[in-house]
Amino acid sequence: MNPHLTRRQVLTRALAVSAAASLPALATAPGPSLNDLAQAKGRRFGSTVGTGKPGTLTGSFADVAYRDLLVAECGLLVPENELKWGALRPSADVYNFEAAERLLAFAKEKGLAFRGHTLLWHHPRWLPAWLDKHDFGAKPAQAVEKMIADHIAMVAGSYKDRITSWDVVNEAVDADTGGLRDTPFTRHVPAERILDLSFHKAREVLPQGQLIYNDYMSWEPGHEKHRDGVLRLLEGFRKRGTPVDALGVQSHIMVVEGGPKYDEAAWRRFLDEVVGMGYGLLITEFDVNDKGLPTDIALRDKGVADYSRAYLDLMLSYKQMGDVLVWGMVDKFSWLQGLTPRADKQPFRCCPYGSDFQPHPLRDAIAGALKGAVAKG
Ligand code: XIL
Repeated sequence: MNPHLTRRQVLTRALAVSAAASLPALATAPGPSLNDLAQAKGRRFGSTVGTGKPGTLTGSFADVAYRDLLVAECGLLVPENELKWGALRPSADVYNFEAAERLLAFAKEKGLAFRGHTLLWHHPRWLPAWLDKHDFGAKPAQAVEKMIADHIAMVAGSYKDRITSWDVVNEAVDADTGGLRDTPFTRHVPAERILDLSFHKAREVLPQGQLIYNDYMSWEPGHEKHRDGVLRLLEGFRKRGTPVDALGVQSHIMVVEGGPKYDEAAWRRFLDEVVGMGYGLLITEFDVNDKGLPTDIALRDKGVADYSRAYLDLMLSYKQMGDVLVWGMVDKFSWLQGLTPRADKQPFRCCPYGSDFQPHPLRDAIAGALKGAVAKG
């Protein structure tokens, strides 16, 4: 929470602003904020926010009530798309920091910390289209390495006083095979070398920074190869002395068709191996796909809350678990609403707050898990 305002002042201001703009009144749950609860155990709670077109899924920042909710509940923010290659680099020679700057200015004004996401989304679908046709010249391997190193120096360097925790590499492991993905860069330089040089460059720019490998392996059925692939990658980093501090567990969890199915023992083994190698942990993008739960809202909300509580209790039993971030605070701005819809075509109830800004039972589940968490070691 903004250290200069009491929670009551934040809420009073939020209500006044909402009333003035005849927006739905913000209904933050009474009692301590989610960030207060996280802080009591040595971590922070945060959310993503996006500067997309107002009224669209990525346009949460334009919504005054959403911004007030961020201030009331969060201690840190992460930009939804604004620091990705696709947003920053409209072409090979141009950097556009305008949208990221707007979010950073807001965070600064409100006393909120800011995470970086991401210096390299190592995924062919999410790198800018121009890269696919880019001419890397007569020495393409050198040119690729230079382009990535320059990007990291420019982006991490521009924010080195304001952003100290970065998802340096995102989603490099192919979820279907467990191998490393191919991208336009890997036509010229092996993937492993690209990832290593990204972390080394980030370390050079941020000697004290928290450098993270971030991915979406999870505990539901079907993630076995993905988990194994991530473990192999993390082992390789350690063997080669690649400077990686923590694993970002995205935590886009899902109640699968037919009701919750998850392999708790396998998930614990995975996390144990990660921390056993000396890595820290973060929850970087928590949300819940409720496709396996009934249409009935009370049943669905309870199902989401119970499933999340089981997951978060397990995650927060690790003293290595650091910051906890959700991928959006309010259902109507969640990226999930734009993915494969539920069979009944009802919007997902996937975030701590509903589209009317009323807290879901999920908000209580997160609060309970943060309260019951082991202190950060
Ligand atoms: C998503 C954004 O929410 C969407 O707006 C965008 O179209 C695609 O990316 N894992 C990640 C995030 O690491 O960057 C993704 O964000 C969600 C999945």
